Amino acid sequence: MISDMPNYTPTNAELLKRSLAAVWHPCSQMKHYEAFPLVPIARGEGVWLYDLDGKRYLDAVSSWWVNLFGHANPHINAALHDQLDTLEHVMLAGFTHQPVVELSERLRELAPKGLGHCFYGSDGASATEIALKMSAHYWRNTGNSQKTQFISLENSYHGETLGALSVTDVALFRDAYGALIRQQATVPSPDSRKAAAGESAEAYALRCMAALEQHLQQHHEQLAAFIIEPLVQGAAGMAMYHPIYLKRARELCSRYSVHLIADEIAVGMGRTGTMFACEQGGISPDFLLISKGITGGYLPLSVVMTRDEIYQAFYDDETARGFLHSHSYTGNPLACRAALATLDIFIQDDVLNANRDKAAYLHRIAQPLRNHRAVRNWRNTGMIWAFEVESPHRDFAQRCFALALKNELLLRPIGNTIYFMPPYVITKPEMDFLVSRTMQLVEQLSQP
Ligand SMILES: Cc1ncc(COP(=O)(O)O)c(C=O)c1O
Repeated sequence: MISDMPNYTPTNAELLKRSLAAVWHPCSQMKHYEAFPLVPIARGEGVWLYDLDGKRYLDAVSSWWVNLFGHANPHINAALHDQLDTLEHVMLAGFTHQPVVELSERLRELAPKGLGHCFYGSDGASATEIALKMSAHYWRNTGNSQKTQFISLENSYHGETLGALSVTDVALFRDAYGALIRQQATVPSPDSRKAAAGESAEAYALRCMAALEQHLQQHHEQLAAFIIEPLVQGAAGMAMYHPIYLKRARELCSRYSVHLIADEIAVGMGRTGTMFACEQGGISPDFLLISKGITGGYLPLSVVMTRDEIYQAFYDDETARGFLHSHSYTGNPLACRAALATLDIFIQDDVLNANRDKAAYLHRIAQPLRNHRAVRNWRNTGMIWAFEVESPHRDFAQRCFALALKNELLLRPIGNTIYFMPPYVITKPEMDFLVSRTMQLVEQLSQP
């Protein structure tokens, strides 16, 4: 045991065995670990993760899309050390503290206009739950208690708690719980891969608006909100779409009095090239959901930012008109402090501009990969790149994951889609490494 033997460091094999005996790992069929073993990680530094035997892996997926400025970032570490010695936690109902106030003020400055208050949750799914509840409760408080339905895009992903699953359109995650879920409707995704031959991404996005408009026309009286992943549907396989869809969706939602919930849990915090993806559509949503990268990938924290009019509809003498939702760790000071340190880095290192240069560099060096005979639909938005690989292997994702590890890369394909979503601190030599190793993998995996 760690506590009994301070100098004891297990080997990869020992930790793996103990993990399988004691830990139920997420999003996994545990039996698959017999063929594709877990990867025991001892430490991290920058874009690199190291296992217990000292082997390194370039974290090209930012540890499930959360890490922005590298593992064990010195600036975030220092802020957390300071916060640890000051205040580790206090409940947020009836109390407040400097990190949560400062973070809320700074997010209000950064976010699209009119999102005046921050409500805190822990992880992404809790933010989705909060937004769905808040939206329906808003309508109830304003005399429209029949507005309790939601819509989302085809292949959407908004988390895996029961409410979030009801607006998540991934059969593999949802079907086993069908009986527990109040299934909501979906509208066609503007995913540009679905455009007809010769049709632009913009034209296809506009074509998809017709279905959204028809749905809103028919159902707006029962609809509370439309929830959407702006610009990139991550779990759908990094499906990217034209920002015109956001602009038009905003117009339609306003016209039909339906809230627009922008789930920027994966795409916020600079991932799409702007601080928030909504900026590229020139829109302000009614709810903005932020999580993952907000703490630089250090601690669980999520934020639901709301339009001022929504906040006001809860402000009353009557308790039951308030939003009586809570989680024990809501607004945890350590997590808020990590978020403040993360925002500092954006300013100090002029991150959005630096990322533009990095994206241009990766685009240039990836030319041979883009042109590989097995690569399809090469696409890029900000610091996300994705493509499909034509491969004879039915277990492509697992095979690619395992082969990547052998090649010092952490890639986690979604079906036949390989994507790069690296920490923003990735250097040019590291991008060279990522692209050239991926090229080798693609060559191998495209053959029988
Ligand atoms: C768009 C989006 N929404 C919600 C979630 C759920 O976040 P969490 O896994 O932190 O619950 C995710 C997670 O990948 C996501 O990508």
